[in-house]
Amino acid sequence: MRELVDKLQAERRLEKQEWIRLIRNEDSSLDEYIFEKARAEREFYYGNRVYIRGLIEFTNYCKNDCYYCGIRRSNKKLERYRLTESQILDCCDIGYELGFRTFVLQGGEDAGYTDEKIVHLVRSMKALYPDCAVTLSIGEKKKESYEAFFEAGADRYLLRHETANTNHYRKLHPEELTLENRIQCLMNLKEIGFQTGCGFMVGSPYQTVDTLAEDMMFIQNFQPHMVGIGPFIPHHQTPFADMEGGSVALTLRLLGLLRIMIPNLLLPATTALGTLHPRGREKGMAAGANVVMPNLSPIDVREKYLLYDNKICTGDEAAESLQHLKQTMKEAGYEVVTSRGDFIHK
Ligand code: 5AD
Repeated sequence: MRELVDKLQAERRLEKQEWIRLIRNEDSSLDEYIFEKARAEREFYYGNRVYIRGLIEFTNYCKNDCYYCGIRRSNKKLERYRLTESQILDCCDIGYELGFRTFVLQGGEDAGYTDEKIVHLVRSMKALYPDCAVTLSIGEKKKESYEAFFEAGADRYLLRHETANTNHYRKLHPEELTLENRIQCLMNLKEIGFQTGCGFMVGSPYQTVDTLAEDMMFIQNFQPHMVGIGPFIPHHQTPFADMEGGSVALTLRLLGLLRIMIPNLLLPATTALGTLHPRGREKGMAAGANVVMPNLSPIDVREKYLLYDNKICTGDEAAESLQHLKQTMKEAGYEVVTSRGDFIHK
C-alpha cells in the first residue's frame, strides 16, 4: 500500500481503483506513513506556519433544503438572524485587532442579502482593511454575481462540491440542486480568478469508498486552491437526524492524502473535526492541514448557526481564544501567523 502513497507523491494523481484501495485500507500504520509525507510536503511550501481565518457567519437564512444541514429552510424551529453591514464591520474590527488578515463571510443562500448588498459589504471591508483578504462562502450564484463580487475585491470563494457522484448528490439534496450546476459554479469561480475551494463531508449518508474515490478524482482534476473537508455530524432537526456520523480517522487520512496530492493546498482543520475530537485541530495539522478558521461571529448569534449538533463555538475555536490556540499550536510545533496566507503557486 505504501507504494501507492509513493506514486501519489511522485505523480500527484492516482487512478480510481488506486484511490479505492488507499481509502479502504484499514491499516493504521499506513496513516503514519501518509502523515509523515504530508507534513514534509507542507513544510516545503508553508513551513510550520498556521494560517488563521476569521469566520463571520453573517446570516442563517437559507433558501436551500439540503437534507444534512441544520440551517435548511424546512427547519422551522430555528431562529433566523441576519447581521447588518455595520455589525459585520464590527466583527472585522475585533478580528483585525486580534491579528486576523483574512475574513470569511459565510452564510446560507439568503435572498435578503442581495448581490448589491454583498458588493457593498465587500467594498467596505476592502476599503477599511486593504491588507486583508476577503473570502466568500455564500453558495451558488450566477456567473455575473461572482464577477461583481470579484470586481468589488473579494479574493477567495469556498463552495464545497459535497460529492462528485451524481446519484449521491441526489440523495443529499432536493431536486432543485444539481451537481452539474455546482461544478459549473466552481469552474466559473476559478476562471474569474478567485482562489477557489471545494470540499465534502466525510461519512455523509450514502457515501461509499467509491464515491470518495470520485471526490479525490474530481479534486485532482479540478486543482482547487483550498479544500474543506470535515466529518458529517447529524443534526436533530434534519431528515438525517438518525444517520451515523463520519469518522475522525478517515477525515485525517483524507487530509493527508489531499496534502500529498496538492502539496501547496490551503487545507483547513475544520470546526467539524474539532467538534468530534477535543484535539481535532491539532490532529488535523499533524495530518497535513495548515489553516484554522476561528469563529468571529458575535457571540449571541453563534448558537443559531448550527449546521450540525453540538457544534463548538465558544471554546478554543473562538477567535477570543486565539492566545490559547497559539499556545497549543506552538506546543505542537506550529506557528500561528498574522498574514493573509494566500495560495502559493508552484
Ligand atoms: N455535518 C457536517 N458538515 C455539515 N455541513 C453542513 N451540514 C453539515 C453537517 N450536518 C457542511 C457542508 C457545507 C458546509 C458549510 O458545512 O459541507 O458545505
